[in-house]
Amino acid sequence: MSRFLCLLSMVGLAACGEPSRGSPASSSPIPAREAMAQSFIQNMKSLDLQYENLHGDVEQSAPAPEIRSRLTKIRRAAEGASVLPYRESESENRDLKRQFDLFLSTLARLEAGEWKGEEGVHNVRALGAACEACHGLYRTD
Ligand code: HEC
Repeated sequence: MSRFLCLLSMVGLAACGEPSRGSPASSSPIPAREAMAQSFIQNMKSLDLQYENLHGDVEQSAPAPEIRSRLTKIRRAAEGASVLPYRESESENRDLKRQFDLFLSTLARLEAGEWKGEEGVHNVRALGAACEACHGLYRTD
């Protein structure tokens, strides 16, 4: 590229020597993906905290409304993570979304439960197993 054209392309947003990436929205795909990844992790941390709290609730035989409000927080965090296609591979993002759908349908079944006594203990385990089903496939740490 001539010096002159190079200067011109710098004026016109495209960095000199780098291929133009078209629209301004797609000119910074890496930061956008990083932001999604951070948000994903935030949602996971929230899931972790609420899951721990749910354990405590069940141990102390907390009333059903308290348990349900905990499950609602878990639902929000899972839904939040589910809409973040933070992986580079589109097929991974699609499959991850499918795993979230499975998780959310298990959660819906648990939300409808009574959570009394043994049932509560069983439900916490079932929820943990649903977390692990996805982690087994997609969590690498
Ligand atoms: C549909 C998939 C999926 C479900 C369901 C899921 N997770 Fe995760 N979780 C992931 C993935 C993927 C990662 C790894 C994120 C990364 O590092 O890219 C992760 C990471 C985490 C982490 C580590 C966060 C950090 O600090 O790096 C915690 C804690 C966690 N999950 C807790 C939970 C809990 C608790 C549940 C269930 C209540 C749950 N997750 C359900 C996919 C899922």
